[in-house]
Amino acid sequence: MRNHVVVFVTCLYTAVAVAQNTNPCSNIIVPKNAAPVVAPGWQAQLVAGGLTKPRSIQFDSTGALLVVESGKGISRHRFSDNGGTCLSANHSHIIVEETKLNHGLALSTDGKTLYASSSESVYSWTYDAVGGTVISDYRILINGMSNNDLVTRTLLISQHQPNTLIVSRGSSDQNKDRASILSNGLSQIRSFNISNLTRFSAPFNFNSEGTVLGWGLRNSVGLAEHPVSGGIYAVENSVDGVTRNGINIKENNPGEELNFLGYLNGTEMVNQGKNFGYPHCFAVWDPKEIPEGDGLVVGKQFAVEEDGEGLLSDEVCEKDYVSPRLTFPAHYAPMDVKFDGGGGRGYVSFRGSCETSPVGYRVAYIDFDPVTGEPTAEADNTSPLEDIITNSDHSKCPDGCFRPVGLAIDDQGRIWFSSDSTGEIYVMQEVGRNGNQQGVFVGQKPDFEEEEEEKGKNGAGRVFGWETKALVTLGVCLGLGMVL
Ligand SMILES: *[C@@H]1O[C@H](CO)[C@@H](O)[C@H](O)[C@H]1NC(C)=O
Ligand SMILES: *[C@@H]1O[C@H](CO)[C@@H](O)[C@H](O)[C@H]1NC(C)=O
Ligand SMILES: *[C@@H]1O[C@H](CO)[C@@H](O)[C@H](O)[C@H]1NC(C)=O
Ligand SMILES: *[C@@H]1O[C@H](CO)[C@@H](O)[C@H](O)[C@H]1NC(C)=O
Repeated sequence: MRNHVVVFVTCLYTAVAVAQNTNPCSNIIVPKNAAPVVAPGWQAQLVAGGLTKPRSIQFDSTGALLVVESGKGISRHRFSDNGGTCLSANHSHIIVEETKLNHGLALSTDGKTLYASSSESVYSWTYDAVGGTVISDYRILINGMSNNDLVTRTLLISQHQPNTLIVSRGSSDQNKDRASILSNGLSQIRSFNISNLTRFSAPFNFNSEGTVLGWGLRNSVGLAEHPVSGGIYAVENSVDGVTRNGINIKENNPGEELNFLGYLNGTEMVNQGKNFGYPHCFAVWDPKEIPEGDGLVVGKQFAVEEDGEGLLSDEVCEKDYVSPRLTFPAHYAPMDVKFDGGGGRGYVSFRGSCETSPVGYRVAYIDFDPVTGEPTAEADNTSPLEDIITNSDHSKCPDGCFRPVGLAIDDQGRIWFSSDSTGEIYVMQEVGRNGNQQGVFVGQKPDFEEEEEEKGKNGAGRVFGWETKALVTLGVCLGLGMVL
């Protein structure tokens, strides 16, 4: 009898070991929609859900993740980290309840001041990272940004230039005439010196203060500083519904943009403070679609009406306005850009289209020269993006898809992103650079029909393999137990 018990217990132990060793991640949650497609060499996993339109995300100095939930406030999330992409939120709470907050988020370089934005203002709080709480009322740092056509005011704190806060403010069609006058402050990126502000200092007025880093930037939602060169880059959401000489070219033009805005250290930069084209000139994405577009190539500035009265020509657009450093497909909707620590890659999130054929909806990266801080691709490159994660069926987008917005990179180099449409936070990790490893999404939706179809194609169904094995072993144990 004793031997029988030993056999049975050993058997159970084996079942548990099978479960633990083959896949130690016990808290797998599945996405709201179909599982994403993950590029070779990468593994991805959903690590939090149920948030309210999560937009910008940022790690604090203790490794907790701060998330702007648009229309709700700022929440803070701690994660139990079991290595790889196996993370699960173990404590989440709201640290700022403020319905006006809708996108922007930043921390000072010492981690002790938190910044966030509404369409009108930039706010700051004293932040206690260890306590996980703000320890002051808000103060208003910048105001005067009240246009409600496009409402995000992206924030970036420079790591190179002390106490410099960069703010990007977009505007759309209904304000396009006003956007062509600098003092209106629309469709611009400005930097502000926030040294020596006291609690009694008046807020900066966005439209009349700060340094203009660039204007004619319709809606540059993503902002980043290259970690080595200190160069400032922005990703631009260009216009919808354009025509050229009265002909509709809106499907594949204009391109979305990566723009270079120079440095903050006082170096004279040809690009700095210049106009990047909006609302007069746009970047070519598909030259074939543009009538009378002789000589136009990807990334060149073109005019929507050629040579009409008071209108600009392609030549003037090219000469007087700054062209993008790189151009992306039309309507991809870039939301954020973040560099890895070495500066060899810039990761970009694309929220995807809503008014044209469904395109975008992905996270990709761009290769950079880590020393010069420049993209390795030339400006007319038509495929500067390496995809990491996409939705599996774009015909279901936008409604049935995740839509990436905020990006953050943790101290292990894992890439995190928020999806506002689904209220989710995902983590991605590069597991091999030789391209041989299949991409893995941990937590395939348990749709067994789909699983059959996809089997062997993208590793679908593997996740549940360990459970099945453990259950089979357990079944054998129980059977054995009964026989014994
Ligand atoms: C929650 O995660 C944090 C790391 O962010 C860890 O220090 C803490 O021990 C975890 N708490 C629980 C209850 O697992
Ligand atoms: C920012 O302001 C402080 C104090 O007013 C000043 O000392 C500093 O030189 C300024 N920095 C820049 C980059 O202008
Ligand atoms: C700004 O503050 C720093 C220290 O916080 C001080 O050294 C400097 O003199 C101040 N500058 C001005 C212009 O008040
Ligand atoms: C500013 O930064 C750029 C890029 O790193 C560098 O080439 C330049 O020398 C710097 N200028 C100053 C004044 O430090």
